[in-house]
Amino acid sequence: MIQDIFGDCKKQLRAALKHKKHSFRFFTLATSSSERGTHLRTVVLRDFDPEQMQFTIFTDTRSKKVADLNRIPNAQFLFYDGIRLIQLVVEAVMISSTDETYLYHSLPEPSKKDYASEQTPGTPIDASDQISHDFSKGNFTKIVFQAERLEYLRLKRPNHIRAEFRASDHWKGQFLAP
Ligand SMILES: Cc1cc2nc3c(=O)[nH]c(=O)nc-3n(C[C@H](O)[C@H](O)[C@H](O)COP(=O)(O)O)c2cc1C
Repeated sequence: MIQDIFGDCKKQLRAALKHKKHSFRFFTLATSSSERGTHLRTVVLRDFDPEQMQFTIFTDTRSKKVADLNRIPNAQFLFYDGIRLIQLVVEAVMISSTDETYLYHSLPEPSKKDYASEQTPGTPIDASDQISHDFSKGNFTKIVFQAERLEYLRLKRPNHIRAEFRASDHWKGQFLAP
């Protein structure tokens, strides 16, 4: 029974890679830094390996999250399915952050734009169209995270379902009081 829950989480995370409207396609990534405390932002799930429990995102090399993670590699993810009322909280550690130039060059032009601004992300500008791009060199980084713990909560009558799964426990699973 508890392994069915874990299996469903993995299945839904895989489904989010294929279906653009899947609730788990976007998730909240939390990082922390000693100066700025905790930081939250929305990112796209780009890959998920259910065997290794590894999650991949793409980002701009110059973004704050990259700087945060290079100093403190621990992160948390929040996934929310508003239809089934399921929340997943994942505790993870960044295991690689690589400039994937070949991947950048294989992207369609509109996607390349997201990594090719001449202005560093977060730089003050006068208006949103006051931005220039240099498509020759992207600032494209692929980040892979290793999950260490996943907490599942489903609001459901008569009994809400809450469970945790830990890598250190071989993802065996344990129900928790909701
Ligand atoms: C729907 C949506 C999807 C986003 N996807 C990504 C993404 O996949 N990667 C990314 O770096 N930023 C993404 N962003 C932008 C981030 O939320 C964030 O604003 C940006 O990366 C700067 O974050 P940072 O300064 O904390 O690093 C997305 C924003 C929205 C609204």
